[in-house]
Amino acid sequence: MRREPDHAGPGRLGPDRLTLGYDVDQNAIRFSNYLHVLRELVHLSAGWLALAPEFEVKYALGDHLHDDARAISKIRRRLYELRHPSDYPGVPAEELTELLDRLDQAPTPTEYLELAYGEAKPALIRAFGVHLENLDPVSDEPSLRLLTKLVSQQDRHLAPEEQRHFFHALMDAEICAAELMARNSHEQPEMPWDFHVDMARQTWDEMRHAKLHSLLMPKELGCHWGDYPVGFSYFRSVYAHDLLGRLALFNSTSEQKAMWRHSHRRKVLVERGQRQIAQVFDYLLADEVPHVHNGSRWGTYLCGGDEAAYKAKIRELRAELDETGAPAPNGQRKPVPSRAR
Ligand SMILES: [Fe+2]
Ligand SMILES: [Fe+2]
Repeated sequence: MRREPDHAGPGRLGPDRLTLGYDVDQNAIRFSNYLHVLRELVHLSAGWLALAPEFEVKYALGDHLHDDARAISKIRRRLYELRHPSDYPGVPAEELTELLDRLDQAPTPTEYLELAYGEAKPALIRAFGVHLENLDPVSDEPSLRLLTKLVSQQDRHLAPEEQRHFFHALMDAEICAAELMARNSHEQPEMPWDFHVDMARQTWDEMRHAKLHSLLMPKELGCHWGDYPVGFSYFRSVYAHDLLGRLALFNSTSEQKAMWRHSHRRKVLVERGQRQIAQVFDYLLADEVPHVHNGSRWGTYLCGGDEAAYKAKIRELRAELDETGAPAPNGQRKPVPSRAR
């Protein structure tokens, strides 16, 4: 006899309910995509392990790549059971290839970790969750058990270390932003007074953002400012430009990307149940709007009021960035501030 389905997940209901889940092919395609992501993570984590400077990170990479390798064996087994036609695992889904390419092209261990633990693993957890919600818990109970295990394993991977690293890097970025805006004001005393007020406000905002992270780290994550290396290359690469270039590259490019990153991170934190930290990101996100506006306001001013000319400048400078968004290393910069008519 058929039971009325309620809103509880399959875990709570127990495997005594029949629903129309995925067909065998859809099921195999999903598992095949997980396999591609995990295979790439094992391969690349094994590659970066030697270059990760901190022992904690090395340890986590070693631990997690072993978990992921075993997960791949189990997924292979499930694919075999599902009798997916001959050439499984099939090619990765189109929407996956972009992520896999970016993982593959990460230029430093920090950027790899940010992608692997900030995007790839959270995406896996989301996909496992959708899969669990939609499968039939009786006919597909092997998938249910396997996926339940995979979710808790990936949750464990994401928990502490990635977040510490991420928040430390974020605090570094906020301080860098405050320093750049303060220098913009200091070096351009001839700019209109409103410019100095805007730069002062942004300097304060960025310092408050840094303070938020410095408070969250010991309270929520058990780490402190200075636990990880601090980078200067980003500051130097933006600082090497004149004011117009800094506004185009920092306010109109990095800060715009920061908005996207903040809202993505917020979503991940809500999914992990970390509502307090997620709420902080709402404020960071709100503050970014005027920061991006500072770029277009004063960039357009420096282009003699010609907004299209400023947009062209942004396009020109963005073209000099490499595919990761970092400035290409060999571009020649003009250090002298130059004001367009
Ligand atoms: Fe900020
Ligand atoms: Fe900002």
